[in-house]
Amino acid sequence: FKIAVFASGRGSNFQSIIDAVNRGEVPAEVKVLLSDKENSGALKRAESEEIENIFINPEHFENQIEYEKEIINILEMAEIDLIVLAGYMRILSPLFVKKYKNKIINIHPSLLPAFKGLNAQKQALDYGVKYSGCTVHFVDEGMDTGPIILQAVVKVEEDDTVEDLAARILKEEHKIYPEAVKLIAENRIKLEGRKVKILKEE
Ligand code: GRF
Repeated sequence: FKIAVFASGRGSNFQSIIDAVNRGEVPAEVKVLLSDKENSGALKRAESEEIENIFINPEHFENQIEYEKEIINILEMAEIDLIVLAGYMRILSPLFVKKYKNKIINIHPSLLPAFKGLNAQKQALDYGVKYSGCTVHFVDEGMDTGPIILQAVVKVEEDDTVEDLAARILKEEHKIYPEAVKLIAENRIKLEGRKVKILKEE
């Protein structure tokens, strides 16, 4: 089971997946890391883990469709089974999402459907919720709207800064993201409409 990770930033979720794979907990191979940012931490991590890593410069393409054609070429050559978005700060086109229906997952730092989009941890603090968390979901044409695979809950403390809350959530992200990849690699996810059923381990 081959996965591609797309990341734009520091890549700590990417790292958590590599670590889980290396510990033998996830029956998958991280084939390639794609980044739209040349100096991303994720690219450097891939480099030191000796994972194929490719920076695709969006500026070198006429438009999103041409850019994604390049991505699709890479995915097809590597025979990728699953695309894992890990801090990938770019919206995929509806065409791309359709082509890889139920084969793209994302992690979001809130309990969806609350606090979609950017700065979810700040949104949660500003709203005054007592609990927040993170969500792994399939990617559909909407923004953070696809079927939910796993969630983890985190308590919000009264004097939390955005950084405090983000760090507490990130710890949980690093557990549930590898777990979700494992469930999919083991073919234990069944979609019924937008509901995800998790099959028991054999
Ligand atoms: C995480 O908070 C994730 O939930 C969000 O972007 C951040 C990526 O962090 N989608 P990292 O690059 O994996 O460290």
